[in-house]
Amino acid sequence: MTSAMVDPPAVTVRVPAKVNLELIVGSRRDDGFHPLSTVYQAVGIHDDVTVEQAPDWGVTVLGPLSEDVPTDDSNLGLRAARALARARGRTDPIHLTIRKEIPVAGGMAGGSADAAAALLACEQFWELDAPREELEEIAADLGSDVPFLLHGGTAIGSGRGELIAPVLARGTFHWVFALASAGLSTPAVYAEFDRIHERDDLPDPEPSPALMSALRTGDPAALAPLLSNDLQEAAISLRPELGEVLSQGLAYGALGGIVSGSGPTVAFLAAGHEAAIDLAVSLTASGTAPDVRRATGPAAGAHVLSVPRID
Ligand code: C5P
Repeated sequence: MTSAMVDPPAVTVRVPAKVNLELIVGSRRDDGFHPLSTVYQAVGIHDDVTVEQAPDWGVTVLGPLSEDVPTDDSNLGLRAARALARARGRTDPIHLTIRKEIPVAGGMAGGSADAAAALLACEQFWELDAPREELEEIAADLGSDVPFLLHGGTAIGSGRGELIAPVLARGTFHWVFALASAGLSTPAVYAEFDRIHERDDLPDPEPSPALMSALRTGDPAALAPLLSNDLQEAAISLRPELGEVLSQGLAYGALGGIVSGSGPTVAFLAAGHEAAIDLAVSLTASGTAPDVRRATGPAAGAHVLSVPRID
């Protein structure tokens, strides 16, 4: 039968970036991770991950941001594909192609997003019909943010960030992201957090009720003053110019500003679509940031694209 020789069709999954609206960090646990209470929001900056049959395991990363992404076995997308293959006893190799738009090492979970996308793409490609919980479990092993990138929307993350509970958020928020010319290492930012809080006995992190209420109103002016990030001080300590980016963005009309996750991307909340365009222009024209992205949130989590993007 010749049909048995035909490769299954490639599957492409689109996955969003994230910003943390609130990131409360507790004292380092014995396993090296920190207990978190965070409110994630998925935003419309995407990577697309395509899986296809291949003679060997491998990954290609495309796009202007691709050069800093590893293409060896440490690639998080490839690690995700292999983890699912192991769990399901698959030995047939696949190749991943990642079209990258999420900043690399930017605090927007770009690597975790590729892991989430690769998991879903392989699950579909191999027609595993895997229960959601199985993917979420593998996702959590791959990284603290990976389960949220499968989920999308707006959600509370607890544990080390991997335990997800949806949150009711109304409306659409308009974000402007000021990118940095070089990334920051997440472990380095957490280590700096530990140094800053060496003598502090930090309370167990819990989500703040005020933020939940603001999200229910859908009003960016209510949300803006509640944006908070316990890693911000550590990120600014390692990259002092981020403090200047934050104050410039606020001076140019942002309602609120925050370092995104472990940074160095700075996220600004704008009053609406027009305000976001004005802010993006001001940040670039003034040279405050080498590059900016506009996006709205919440965005959908990892999902299959019926037609792959053609570059
Ligand atoms: O979970 P993930 O692989 O994304 O974490 C990357 C690094 O960030 C960890 O190795 C750890 O240094 C730090 N981290 C942490 N506490 C968390 C999440 C991440 O200390 N809750």
